[in-house]
Amino acid sequence: MLKPEGRPQVNSELCNRCGRCVAVCSLDVLEMGESCPAATGSAPCFRCGHCVAVCPSGAISHPGMNPEHFRQLLPWDEGVTPELLLDLLRKRRSIRSYTDEQVTQEEITRLIEAAVQAPSGLNAQSWHFTIIQDAERLGKIRRRTLAIYSMLLKMLDSRVSRLMLRMQLGAEALEVLAEARPLLEGILDAQKSGGDRLLWGAPTLVIVHSPEEDSTGPESAHYAVGNFMLMATTMGLGTCVIGFVSAIAERDGRMRDFIGLPEDHTLAAVLVVGHPSAEYLRSVDKRAAAISFI
Ligand SMILES: Cc1cc2nc3c(=O)[nH]c(=O)nc-3n(C[C@H](O)[C@H](O)[C@H](O)COP(=O)(O)O)c2cc1C
Ligand code: SF4
Ligand code: SF4
Repeated sequence: MLKPEGRPQVNSELCNRCGRCVAVCSLDVLEMGESCPAATGSAPCFRCGHCVAVCPSGAISHPGMNPEHFRQLLPWDEGVTPELLLDLLRKRRSIRSYTDEQVTQEEITRLIEAAVQAPSGLNAQSWHFTIIQDAERLGKIRRRTLAIYSMLLKMLDSRVSRLMLRMQLGAEALEVLAEARPLLEGILDAQKSGGDRLLWGAPTLVIVHSPEEDSTGPESAHYAVGNFMLMATTMGLGTCVIGFVSAIAERDGRMRDFIGLPEDHTLAAVLVVGHPSAEYLRSVDKRAAAISFI
């Protein structure tokens, strides 16, 4: 998915020949010429913009980048402190109770602006965000998901249909389904009494997907979703990843339609966004990470 989009240009009148742009270009696109660097290397430029970002005299432009979007950044030691960032990371929790207030388009735009700052394989940035705010469609997604889970749980009860499921989904998926059974039964029971333990009553559903041809697309999209969720936290918004929808959405044609997933796209994540109806006041203990130093 390396899409060459032009090569950087260096203004020799502004350039002081410090060589930083040449050193930072990991593909050796830029080489030092007689008066200043030039994009004479044989590799395609993958538009990472590292050369533009490192130049102290603003001598580099890139035809694939809008200079109006360049921003002066604070030095490491004047920006967000590690303590503040860690607190933000602690503050992000899965929110499972929302008010009726809708998330505005401006807020969504901000969240996505944060999301797309994430790293992506070959700088493809192939993520696609589909935002669903129509209550009727959200209802369809909820009902369809739960109808499928209800059917799957019934199939678990019979030896023959369990065997069929094992052949269709594989042994591992079957095990996950059996493990998730109590949770799924809780979600199904809640639905019967008008509750929503699938999308948690959130007014907005975000579907993140990427073209199949980008093999790193889903992984890159996950990093983007991380940024999205942290940005939401700073804006007083809540999010929750909804794996129960992802797990079936890609395999079911009607669900693909409901969530607007193009045929040639792979689903990366489904999450809800909204205004939390409660705020978490303290962080809690997370399990100690498994760490190996080698
Ligand atoms: C891949 C994945 C799938 C998830 N699926 C669901 C889900 O379907 N429903 C839900 O309420 N939470 C879901 N979550 C949220 C997790 O339960 C939650 O992140 C975890 O319990 C830790 O809590 P925290 O996010 O508040 O720190 C999912 C999280 C991930 C990363
Ligand atoms: S944009 Fe990236 S790949 Fe292209 S020349 Fe600059 S540093 Fe090299
Ligand atoms: S970083 Fe800027 S000033 Fe330094 S050599 Fe490259 S173009 Fe010239």
